[in-house]
This record gives sequence, structure tokens and C-alpha cells, in this order.
Amino acid sequence: MSYTSIEVRTEAEKVGVITLNRPKQLNALNDQLMDELGEALHIFDSDEGIGCIVLTGSEKAFAAGADIGAMAKFSFADAYKGDYISRNWETIRSIRKPVIAAVSGFALGGGCELAMMCDFIIAADNAKFGQPEIKLGVIPGAGGTQRLPRAVGKSKAMDMALTGRMMDAVEAERSGLVSRVVPLDKLQDEALGAALVISDFSRIAVMAAKESVNRAFESGLSDGVMFERRLFHALFATADQKEGMDAFVNKRKAVFTHL
Ligand code: CAA
Repeated sequence: MSYTSIEVRTEAEKVGVITLNRPKQLNALNDQLMDELGEALHIFDSDEGIGCIVLTGSEKAFAAGADIGAMAKFSFADAYKGDYISRNWETIRSIRKPVIAAVSGFALGGGCELAMMCDFIIAADNAKFGQPEIKLGVIPGAGGTQRLPRAVGKSKAMDMALTGRMMDAVEAERSGLVSRVVPLDKLQDEALGAALVISDFSRIAVMAAKESVNRAFESGLSDGVMFERRLFHALFATADQKEGMDAFVNKRKAVFTHL
């Protein structure tokens, strides 16, 4: 598959790496890029050999948001009829394998929203997050007003959405937006390391864990706990559960077959 706005590679034949690649526009997200991203994500998701996906950008920008030039002249009818944002932005939500965002530089507007759509964010110490749409006379349109408060709480989310200010990596980690902050030159190794660890676990258990954590944002506590318990019980039907527990009991390293 050849792409113009992203680069795609595999690492150790078990991690899919997607790099956003519109450097002159600081990886501004246009339809072409989002279509390519959606396609690459689907290919990795259905590849039996791949256990985890890393999504990253350049040192200067993960992504500086939706492409402002492309939407500047939109009318309401253009945006609504074209289903702008939803049309090709929601693909990542349907991916069942974990997707890690490795963020350096700017993650603004749609870039911050895209990072938040990933399962967790590892940030370089130069990362800057923000929802600056208010400065453009609009509001976040790819889930920023919904996912940011879930990640950092109402007060900080309001602050970000209403002032348009940026949050640095330290504040982002303190607020729970990112899971780890590492020096810029360690970012790719850190994200790949996490992805390789995940890839070696039981794929079925990994997918179940992702599904169950995501359920926490869609259901009440009792329903969520019951959902988790059903998945937990179901995992006893897998060969990987037998392998994982037998390996522990016999003090050896588990080798999962993803069955
Ligand atoms: N869309 C299109 N082009 C963009 C862009 C964007 N979101 N962000 C940056 N660029 C382009 C600039 O126009 C510039 O292009 P030229 O060289 O052709 O002029 C190039 O990238 C480099 O940008 P700057 O010269 O501005 O670089 P800087 O280092 O001085 O500033 C920045 C970096 C602070 C990120 C600044 O570029 C900026 O503020 N960008 C816009 C951020 C923004 O508002 N994002 C939200 C977009 S709306 C959205 O995302 C809606 C949604 O919810 C989905």
C-alpha cells in the first residue's frame, strides 16, 4: 500500500507503526490523511501477526489540528452534509487492538483529539497539548469537549477549551492526560517498548482488557463491573489462560499462542 500523508512500517513483525507525515503543515489532519490513517489502522487490526499499534508524528508536531485551510470556507451545509470530522475520524474507535499515541511537539485541536482517541498517550518532554479551536471561532469537533473532561476533569478541560491555552508535558502527566513523559530522544523507544510488551501477551486478553476499560466510559459502575466479570469468565475458555497460569505455577515464562 502506498501512502502520501502517512508512513507505515512494522517493528519486530508484531508492532504496527504509523507516522503522520505532512511535515510542512505540522501534520494538519485533512481528509486524505485521515482516510489513509483509517485504512492503515484496519490493515494492522486484521493482521494476525500484529499485537499493538503505535501512532506518532514528527518531533515538532504530532498534529497541529484539523487542516484549517481545508475547512476555512466551509458553509454549515458543507460541514453538515459532508459529515465533516465523523466521516473518517471515527475509524480509530473501531480498532480492537491497542493503539498507543507517541506524542512529541504540538498536539492541538484535532491532534489532541486524535491522541485522546488512542488507548494511552506517551509524551515526549517537548509535547504541548491544547484545544485552541475557540481562537478560530469554533469549538473542538472530534470529541475534545467530551474526552478531555473525562481525562483531566471539568475545571482543566474548561480552562483548555475556553482559553485555548496549551498544556505542557509535565502538566499533562500531572492531570492524567498522558501515562508517561520521557525525554524526546527516548520517545520512540519507550512507545515501541510498551507496544512490544503488549504484543507478547495473549491477544484475546489484551483485546478484552481494552474493551473493558473503554466500557468504563460508557456505562454505570455495576454494569461495567458485570461486563468485566463476563469477559474475565470467558477468558477461562482460552488456551492462553491455561498457558499463563501454568507458566506461573511452574515458574517459567509464558508463551502465548493467542488462542
Ligand atoms: N491547519 C493547516 N495548516 C497548519 C495548521 C493547521 N491546523 N497548523 C499549522 N499549519 C501550517 C501553517 O499554516 C504553516 O504553513 P506555512 O508554512 O505554509 O505558512 C506551517 O504549518 C507551520 O506553522 P507555523 O508557521 O504557524 O509554525 P509555528 O511554529 O509558528 O506555530 C502552531 C505552530 C502554534 C502549532 C501554529 O501553527 C498554530 O497555532 N496552528 C494552528 C493550531 C490550531 O488552531 N489547531 C486547531 C485546528 S481546528 C481543529 O482541529 C478542529 C477540530 O476539533 C477537529
